[in-house]
Amino acid sequence: MTSLDRYLTIDDLKQAARRRVPKQFFDYADSGAWTEQTYRANEEDFAKITLRQRVAVNLENRNLGSEMLGQKVSMPVAIAPVGSTGMQSPDGEIKAARAAEKAGIPFTLSTMAICSIEDVAENTSTPFWFQLYVMRDRPFVHRLIDRARAAKCSALVITMDLQILGQRHKDIRNGLLVPPKFTPKFMFEIARKPGWALGMLGTKRRTFRNIHGHVTEATNLQSLTQWTRKQFDLTLNWNDIAWIKERFGGKVIVKGVLDPEDAQRAIAAGADGIIVSNHGGRQLDGAPSTIRVLPEIVDAVGSKTEVFMDGGIRSGQDVIKALALGAKGTFIGRAMNYGLGAGGEAGVTRALDIIRAEMDTSMALMGERDIRNIGPHNVYSNDLVKRQGY
Ligand SMILES: Cc1cc2nc3c(=O)[nH]c(=O)nc-3n(C[C@H](O)[C@H](O)[C@H](O)COP(=O)(O)O)c2cc1C
Repeated sequence: MTSLDRYLTIDDLKQAARRRVPKQFFDYADSGAWTEQTYRANEEDFAKITLRQRVAVNLENRNLGSEMLGQKVSMPVAIAPVGSTGMQSPDGEIKAARAAEKAGIPFTLSTMAICSIEDVAENTSTPFWFQLYVMRDRPFVHRLIDRARAAKCSALVITMDLQILGQRHKDIRNGLLVPPKFTPKFMFEIARKPGWALGMLGTKRRTFRNIHGHVTEATNLQSLTQWTRKQFDLTLNWNDIAWIKERFGGKVIVKGVLDPEDAQRAIAAGADGIIVSNHGGRQLDGAPSTIRVLPEIVDAVGSKTEVFMDGGIRSGQDVIKALALGAKGTFIGRAMNYGLGAGGEAGVTRALDIIRAEMDTSMALMGERDIRNIGPHNVYSNDLVKRQGY
């Protein structure tokens, strides 16, 4: 038994991360836009779905393995792209990628990661997925796509829901900066989180390394921050998918779809898969939870493409509910982040183990032996599902 085994739930890991990570970085992950209505709804709506219990079924030889985008996965859970993961724990993206590799699931690296594409490629041996923010500086975007291809990334995730940044009050109140500004308040925080501070001193990876050194205007951290802020492309549209896909030369997933019409457009534009996502409630506050809109999106495009979802997944039961409502696979953002903050690579492994064990036990108690058989018959047509005409 390791010390991490005492954490039994993702929420336990969250509380441990709260104790170990400086407040401004913990809050950065644990926040949604404005009133956080959508952030809360992502979690709360899962609790409105009930699972169907079945008994007296032979439960030997159970299988959690599946496929996501033609890739074998040990369970239908991938790591979502999460910016600044390397501020939750030193070299955080490398640690999370390694944990994902060991667990046999896909890891997605964010454009706004602390560790670069090359850092992660050098420290892992399984191809990972890369998430692209389309910037106005097109030569930079071209180079970024080429770097992802050179690193043998096996899919490109194009995020479409961040042409403009949702406001998260906590970040403003905490004066969040990467790397942090050494104000008295932050020095006080560091004194209370010495493990984090020592780890950060021990790594050279403390800025956005996918960008730093790759843009001539961004020579220091201040200019890098200024450059990034003006760079998210307001003109991004469905026509951009084609040239991005052609340049990358591999499969592309469109992330940030919350509407059936957009799902259809994404497919018409060439997407090989979509992620039903509201960015973890960090963008449009007031938008519906992802689990709520999932069934209608699956109805619209599920026969033509792989529909994945993220947002609010904090347990194996949540994964099963998403699969029951039609998702081919799921992504986790905060559940990974909390594990990382609580215990680095081993903490991410712990988060994945918790979710895996919960999935296995729940699946069995539902009388199912194979995760690929989970479907609408495994949940009750409750309010949430009925309103979507499911
Ligand atoms: C701290 C944080 C940073 C994020 N950064 C990115 C990012 O750089 N790119 C992106 O496409 N999505 C980003 N997301 C959204 C996640 O990919 C994912 O959609 C979301 O976390 C899913 O919700 P969950 O955290 O409840 O699992 C971020 C989410 C969080 C919590």
